[in-house]
Amino acid sequence: MREEDVKDKGLYQRLSEYCAGDFYPYHMPGHKRGRYAGDMARYFGIDITEIDGFDDLYHANGVLRDAQERANRLYGAEETYYLVNGSTVGVLASVMAAAKRGEEILIARNCHRSVYHAAILQELKPHYYYPEILDEYGIWDGVGADGINRLLEQYPACRTVVITSPTYEGIVSDVSAVAKSVHRHGGVLIVDEAHGAHFGLDDHMPQSAVMCGADLVVHSLHKTLPSMTQTALLHVKGERADRRKLREYLRMMQTSSPSYVMMASMDCCVRYLEEHGAQRFAFMKRQYDLFRRQTETLKHIRIGSMTHMSEKGYHLTDWDMGKLVISVRNTSLTGPMLYRILREEYHLQMEMSGADYVVAIMTIMDTHDGWQRLADALRRIDDRIEGEEFDGAAGTASLPEKTGPFTPAEIVMTPADAFCADRREVPLEQAAGKTAAEFVNLYPPGIPLLVPGERVSTDILAKIRKYLQAGLCVQGVTPDAEIAVVL
Ligand SMILES: Cc1ncc(COP(=O)(O)O)c(C=O)c1O
Repeated sequence: MREEDVKDKGLYQRLSEYCAGDFYPYHMPGHKRGRYAGDMARYFGIDITEIDGFDDLYHANGVLRDAQERANRLYGAEETYYLVNGSTVGVLASVMAAAKRGEEILIARNCHRSVYHAAILQELKPHYYYPEILDEYGIWDGVGADGINRLLEQYPACRTVVITSPTYEGIVSDVSAVAKSVHRHGGVLIVDEAHGAHFGLDDHMPQSAVMCGADLVVHSLHKTLPSMTQTALLHVKGERADRRKLREYLRMMQTSSPSYVMMASMDCCVRYLEEHGAQRFAFMKRQYDLFRRQTETLKHIRIGSMTHMSEKGYHLTDWDMGKLVISVRNTSLTGPMLYRILREEYHLQMEMSGADYVVAIMTIMDTHDGWQRLADALRRIDDRIEGEEFDGAAGTASLPEKTGPFTPAEIVMTPADAFCADRREVPLEQAAGKTAAEFVNLYPPGIPLLVPGERVSTDILAKIRKYLQAGLCVQGVTPDAEIAVVL
């Protein structure tokens, strides 16, 4: 077989061929390629370790280097790393490589908790950019370059800026403008694009932060593309980010036994996109347009869209068509009610529920049937709202929005100091004015309501109580309704 033919074989194909051969595994993993794995055998079949011919993720110079380079070409980055611990590890490594120990950092306050975890590990002093709220939907707006600029002037020691674009709800920021502002101040821009791994791969999609001047970009392949859970990519562009440190942190924070099944899944995903991406994105766009036409006559339920957004002075530049924010604001339904109706009556499992909306994630792998079932169900539910079937049922209509807004908190001490300080648990009603020692998150989306070191305000306590009453998942509050505060 010619060298090029071997080189062009995907990781999955190589694993399958190897494992169909007669090599006996005197090595990890202990299931011995599924021989004794019972029902799981088919999943274990290609699960190997770093044996000859299969490279080493942290010193890649063979099949894994080729696979990462392939992903790199697809996105147009300069360097791309496979991640087997989700975007979480990509964010951790990026922040820790960019911001020196103890440094100041500017963080958009709607970032995922992994950003705050990195701030704890690196003992950073955060300053926050609070995005505005899109009033129509009660969700976070995009990040404005002017606001970032102002904060960088106010805190000139900040050398690292982290923003999330798109947000969990699909709101896209003007990353190019933010990057220009950050670079003017000599900083590094990290974009958590975990929810936008499909960006930039087709003209129908928003541009990826990789092409908008970001220095480090994190993608969860598993969130919006056909790849296994936990698989993600970290892209580097330019010379501002310290690549040596980045590689070191990835080595430190990921397993020393990265899963070949996951890595093969990433390679398959990239190859699938190269081969079928254009056709699948075109299909998705057609389905999306049809869905929008079918739902534009709804009288009560609204599907989030860019229409009229630019006139209102908001910062978002786009809204990902893969995130359907289905709003029941100002109707007799709440988000959790709509979520439950869709699940129990129509067998449609949403990604998450907010106070007065639910989020459906749509990808290039959704079928015509998938789009149609949702459109049909929404039309029926809308008719039921019209028929006043739910009138008086909305006991939680005054729930605060799930992801925001919350008023800027006073920072009493750094997240690391508060996290490591002596602590005690106090009932919510006694927590006002104290300093949080632990995160309080709504999950999903995992954006902290309280970060260690923040003063616990009566406003945030009221929100936490309402979330608990509504039965939403609030992490960081004990079953006895207590939270940890600094002694
Ligand atoms: C904005 C954002 N960033 C990062 C993450 C972490 O991604 P992963 O689950 O791939 O570790 C999430 C997870 O939901 C997220 O919403």
